[in-house]
Amino acid sequence: MKDHIILIGFMGAGKTTTAKKLSYKLRRTLLDTDKMIERAEGCSISEIFEAKGEAYFRDKETDVLMSLAKEKVPHIISVGGGTPLREENRQILKNMGQVIYLKVSPDTVFQRLQGDTTRPLLQGENPLEKITQLLAKREPLYEQAAHRIIVVDGKDSIEIVNEILEVCQ
Ligand code: S3P
Repeated sequence: MKDHIILIGFMGAGKTTTAKKLSYKLRRTLLDTDKMIERAEGCSISEIFEAKGEAYFRDKETDVLMSLAKEKVPHIISVGGGTPLREENRQILKNMGQVIYLKVSPDTVFQRLQGDTTRPLLQGENPLEKITQLLAKREPLYEQAAHRIIVVDGKDSIEIVNEILEVCQ
């Protein structure tokens, strides 16, 4: 398995946790694009959204992907939930390696992210409705971007990692 393994999916799908376990198991470096952007900008994603707006953040996502596309050593890469929305990003991701879509239901996201204040898109009234609408809109794009789809509801991270390893053989 010499390609990057790239995890995509909605907020709360478990991309970060799964990526950490995969990185440990395969002894590969983990690259998290959200964290790379936060480091480069010197502030949190919420602060970037507030100070510079979502469009600025989306441009940074594309910039980071373009820089990662040059990496020769295979890594485990976890990208933000909105990264596959741009056609350009979907193309870059697909050419970079095995793209695994961690598919999660709105109810699971709602339960996992209750009280979370770090996702600017899910703040305010009626988070379940926001999650349901956003996920329905994004679903076809995640599917387009992915080589493989893994349903994560009701599974623990060990099961998910094992499924990823099976499909990436
Ligand atoms: C976003 C997902 C977040 C982060 C930002 C926007 C999105 O990452 O990039 O808040 O549009 O779905 P996670 O999927 O890691 O929460």
